[in-house]
Amino acid sequence: MKFLASIAAAAAALSSTVSAVGVSGAAEGFAKGVTGGGSATPVYPSTTAELVSYLGDSQARVIVLTKTFDFTGTEGTTSGSGCAPWGTGSACQVAINKDKWCDNYQASAPKVSVKYDNAGLLGITVGSNKSLIGSGSKGVIRGKGLRIVSGAKNIIIQNIHITELNPQYVWGGDAITLDGSDMVWIDHVKTSKIGRQHIVLGNSASNRVTISNCEIDGVSNYSATCDGNHYWALYFTGSGDLVTFKNNYVHHTSGRGPKVAGNTLLHAVNNYWYSSSSHAFEVDKGAMILAEGNVFQNVPAPVLDPIAGQLFTSPDANSNAACSSYLGRACQANAFGSSGAFSSATTGFLSNFKGKNIASASTAAAAKSVSSTAGFGKI
Ligand SMILES: *[C@@H]1O[C@H](CO)[C@@H](O)[C@H](O)[C@H]1NC(C)=O
Ligand SMILES: *[C@@H]1O[C@H](CO)[C@@H](O)[C@H](O)[C@H]1NC(C)=O
Repeated sequence: MKFLASIAAAAAALSSTVSAVGVSGAAEGFAKGVTGGGSATPVYPSTTAELVSYLGDSQARVIVLTKTFDFTGTEGTTSGSGCAPWGTGSACQVAINKDKWCDNYQASAPKVSVKYDNAGLLGITVGSNKSLIGSGSKGVIRGKGLRIVSGAKNIIIQNIHITELNPQYVWGGDAITLDGSDMVWIDHVKTSKIGRQHIVLGNSASNRVTISNCEIDGVSNYSATCDGNHYWALYFTGSGDLVTFKNNYVHHTSGRGPKVAGNTLLHAVNNYWYSSSSHAFEVDKGAMILAEGNVFQNVPAPVLDPIAGQLFTSPDANSNAACSSYLGRACQANAFGSSGAFSSATTGFLSNFKGKNIASASTAAAAKSVSSTAGFGKI
């Protein structure tokens, strides 16, 4: 009987552990209301093939990662000729000749030999109604990213780390791609050692997106700026996308942090940008950006000149009051430490926030803790 009792106790402990597994918190901002796999019984993939199958099938799923899924080597390697547009120094990234990019656009760059892991080049397809969550600090995907494309919607990615996508090579792989999606929440995700973009919202409509509490770690031994800082960080060029970007920690990057275009409405709130060797925002034609309550620490140029789109940087109390009509509250000032100027007060586009789900904002002073709360293994 003692034996049976201990089995019952173990089963009770197990079921309470299992029922505790699930998405933590809820999305704020544009993707508010996203449910992912909802209350589906959690599944625990044990192999890379099983993970790919769960993510890509047409069932609502809560997929829990309890270990590292290592895709390196699973699709072989390719050796060939690439190019070195930024030089052949040992700290420089070089490029794969993907779709003849070197031939067509870098014809005068020195040719170099390249050898890359095939798995990194194209991410795992994620279907609709999925929650992908890491357990503690165990959920790691190595050597392959995620693709949320072609009509996939209602997806939550939380508390995982995506790393080592051919970091030495441009075109070596994107960590998370959205292109033609809706209602996606990316939360407490860390990306590091990535070849191409950390997060890319491609040119189709990715609609409503919330990216929160993520760590974009640009530290790299192979940089397009040859200085240890990754250039290809965040690329938001979807068609009419609504992107909430809150409480993220973006560090050691040198460009595209983010690059915004395509009539994207971006609400960048309470993020912490740290230690860039160049610029953070690229505001291209069509971009509409409200940046409030952020911290820029050691960022020489928070925004790259010239600004082609619309940018409101919450520059002073008088201007910030303009937010009240559209957001229902005044905007919060940004804060700067050893950083360059970030001043633009275009307000015409703020009316686009009216009636939408809008993230709250705390002061920039409160956002200083984001460097320790963002990333995976923190919830
Ligand atoms: C996702 O869930 C919704 C609501 O249950 C359902 O209508 C839709 O068909 C699901 N999508 C897929 C691809 O299964
Ligand atoms: C850079 O290379 C050094 C030496 O091999 C290694 O210890 C370090 O982890 C590498 N850093 C990154 C970010 O890959």
